[in-house]
Formats: sequence, C-alpha cells, structure tokens
Amino acid sequence: MEAFLLYILPLVLLPLSLYLITFTRKNGSENSKNFPPGTRGWPMLGENMEFALLGPQKFVKDRMEKFSPEVFKTSLLGEKMAIFCGAQGNKFLFMNENKLLTSWWPQSMKKALLFPEFVESNLKEVSALKRSFHHDILKPEALKQYIPVMDALARDHLDHDWTPNSVVKVFPLSKKYTFELACKLFLSVVDPEHIKRLADPFTLVTNGMFSVPIDFPGTAYNRAIKGGKMVREELMRIIKERRKEMMENKETEGRDLLSKMLLVTDEDGQYLSEMEISNNIIGLLVASFETTSSAVTSVMNYLAELPHIYIEVWKEQMEIAKSKGPNELLTWEDIEKMKYSWNVARESLRLTPPAQGAFRETTTEFTYAGFTIPKGWKTFWTVHSSHKNPKYFPEPEKFDPSRFEGSGPAPYTFVPFGGGPRMCPGKEYARLEVLVFMHNVVRRFKLEKAIPNEKIVFYASPTPVHGLPVHLQPHGK
Ligand code: HEM
Repeated sequence: MEAFLLYILPLVLLPLSLYLITFTRKNGSENSKNFPPGTRGWPMLGENMEFALLGPQKFVKDRMEKFSPEVFKTSLLGEKMAIFCGAQGNKFLFMNENKLLTSWWPQSMKKALLFPEFVESNLKEVSALKRSFHHDILKPEALKQYIPVMDALARDHLDHDWTPNSVVKVFPLSKKYTFELACKLFLSVVDPEHIKRLADPFTLVTNGMFSVPIDFPGTAYNRAIKGGKMVREELMRIIKERRKEMMENKETEGRDLLSKMLLVTDEDGQYLSEMEISNNIIGLLVASFETTSSAVTSVMNYLAELPHIYIEVWKEQMEIAKSKGPNELLTWEDIEKMKYSWNVARESLRLTPPAQGAFRETTTEFTYAGFTIPKGWKTFWTVHSSHKNPKYFPEPEKFDPSRFEGSGPAPYTFVPFGGGPRMCPGKEYARLEVLVFMHNVVRRFKLEKAIPNEKIVFYASPTPVHGLPVHLQPHGK
C-alpha cells in the first residue's frame, strides 16, 4: 500500500503543484491589471463552498462591504466571474444584453437538462426563436384564457389536499399544484398517474441541477442526469403522439402550448424538431416550477405570519368573491381588482426572491465602474444587492406592501424577474398563478405557522427546511 502511495503521490502532486503555481501567477498578474477587487478562493474549488455555506444573500453582502459595492470578482462553478451589484449593476447588465454580453448557463446544468446533441452546440439561434415564441404564448391576451383553468385547479387542489387536513405543508403542496397546472396548460396532461411519471424524474432534475456536478452513481447530480433523460423520453413520446394526432385531424389551432409549438415555423418555414420542442418545454418547466412554487410559499408564509396583512388581503378577495356566483370562475377583470394582494405578493418577492439573479458571458472586454472585465468572463446580477438596500427600500427587512403604491420602487431596484431583453417571459403567468392561489386560500382558511421561525435554506430557490407546515382554520368554524 505504502509503495503504491509512493508511486502514485508524485503523479497527483506534480500536476497539482503546477496548477497552484500557474493559479498564483495568474492571480498575481491579474492584480497588475485593473480587474475588480475580490478573491478567487481556493484553487479549483473557487468560492463555491463559501457561496453554499453563506447563501447567496450573505455571500454577496459580505463581499460588497469588503471589496466594492459596485462589482467584485470571484470564482464560481469553475468560472472567472464578476458579480455586479446594486441598481446600477442591474441596469448595466440589462442594457448591454447582446451588445457586450450574452446568455450563459453552466455546462453541468445543460448536461442535466438537454439532449446530448444540444449540450455542446451553439444554442443562440434556437433560443432567439424560442424567446420571441415565449413572448407570444405567455403574453396577457394568451394568458387570459388560463385564468378559469387555474381557478378550477386551485379549487380542486384545496378540496383534495388542504380541506381534509388541519395542518398542511405548503411548499410540497404548492409544488404539486404548480406542476399539475403546468402539465395541464402546457401539455393537456391531466391523468394523475401520467403527471407522476413526469413529476418524479423532474424532481430528481430540480433537486440535483444545482448540486456539485460530480456524475458518479449515488450523487444528486447523477440522479439529475438520469431524471433528465427520463423526462426527455416521456416528452418525446407525448410530442410524437400529438404530432400524429394533429396530422390525422388536420388541426391548425393550437389547443395548448405543445400544439402551438408544433405549429410554429422559423424564418425558413421549417417546423421545430421534436428535440427542440422537448428542450423548450423542459426549459419552461424548469424556469416556472421552483420559482412559482417558491413565490406561492413565501406569500403563504407572510400571510400566516402577519395577521394585519392577511386581513387586508382577505377583505379585497371577499369583495371579489361576493360579486360572483358560488361556482363562477375568476376572470381577467377579477384579477385586475387584486391590487393590494399583488402588492403583498411583490413585497414577498422583494424579501424572498425565488431567483437569485442570472448569469451572462462577456463577448468583448469592457470597463465598468473603472474596472476591466475581460472577454469570456462570466457575470452575475443579484437581486438582494438592490432588494435589501436601505437606499432604495428604507427599513429593508420590514414587510411593507405600500412600497409598491403610486409610482413604486425606482427603476432597476426591484428585479425579481430580471430586466431588459431577457426579462422573465413568464412574469405574467406567475402573477396570475400566485393571485388565483391567494384568492382561493384566503377565502377558505386563516393560516398559522406551525414552526414560528422556520429556517430558510437555498437550493434552486429559497426553501423552508420543514416545508412550511401551517395550521388551517377554516372560516366560520
Ligand atoms: C415567481 C416566479 C418567477 C420568477 C421569480 C422568475 C424569475 C426569472 C428570472 C430572474 C429570469 C432570468 C432573467 C435574466 O436572465 O436576467 C427568468 C427567466 C426565464 N423565465 Fe422566469 N420566473 C418566474 C416564473 C416563470 C414562469 C411561470 C415561466 C414560464 C411559464 C418562466 C419562464 C422563464 C423563461 C423561459 C426564462 C428565460 C428567458 C430568456 O432567457 O430569454 N418564468 N425568470
């Protein structure tokens, strides 16, 4: 054994020492250039561990205080990265999309989500088509018809999963509701067994997508890759079946998102391939699932925690409920009346934003706040650096929906959905889903948290460690 070690150690140590020398040299030469202040952390590991241990909010806050409130450098996911902070940082990145920067996602994430053929390829053309298409199918006119469907499903969900219980765990249930809704609206899949066939592997994907990318049996990342493959296979089956059905019935109207995707053509009149459609649907599921479930959960958390907020939301929602028949479903006009409730939801999104920011890659070298950002670096804009800044939001930790009255927060300070050309195209879908859910819950129950100071941890989005158990008090009891 010892002999083996003596033999093998130099083989390991030599490349490691060479790496360390190069790393130190590189860091040394970087200091002579005017790169943003900051540290790259440990060789190879970068600052991934610090980011995971501290959570995104504290990681950014500490470094803004230590290095610069405008921009600092770090190393995350094996990449040289500049973290842009505050409203100015957000504005700069949003305004320079496709000029100085382009979209970027970690290779590990693409590997879990996409078909192997797409992982290495240049996705720019596909995503350009995808973006304009997303804006079409997720714009308010298209979404209006989803409101009654969302309402009916929310009623059904509460009947089955909330009403029979005195305590419920909000986070897993809101995930269930969100996924069922997406299956119904995107794919017309409503059979519970079929939803489960998609939901189980999909959960493996979302649980492991942001884990340490070690593809080894037993790791969360390995499970995410396997889950991704299963989701893709199931989607391909659904897509092929639908294409056949549409051709047989000569369908020209898209009845759901999948049919609309099957009918769309690019500039050359070519239909999207089945793999492209599957990638697009997975993209939408990933972008909408954790984020919207997390948003619903944090709204429920504040409603359970703050009775004076709850009562105002309840009054607003009861006015709407009283104006309708008992079985009449919500409409666009009703949603437009939910002004106070939306301010409450926005304040939840400010304090507990589901997405922490987003990556970009620089396509050319440029200067920001006097610092050089070289071509090929990755950048990240961060929600917390403006959402929790007392300059933009006095007493930032206080829950105060009145911040959104009148003209609301200053531009680029409230950015839960990002901004500029890549702003979340699902913003309006999320608004409808959250408001419809709020309406149904407050009409039926008062909520009380079972664990008063439940800790929040960060996986794909902020997650209450025990799933946010709440006591349900049905009205009139
Ligand atoms: C409360 C819920 C949600 C939040 C907080 C949220 C937030 C975000 C953020 C921060 C981005 C990145 C913007 C950037 O790159 O700068 C994004 C992108 C995206 N979101 Fe959402 N999102 C939510 C719900 C949804 C929903 C419901 C859908 C679809 C139905 C969706 C679809 C997308 C897509 C497709 C992108 C990528 C856009 C692109 O790269 O061009 N999101 N979202």
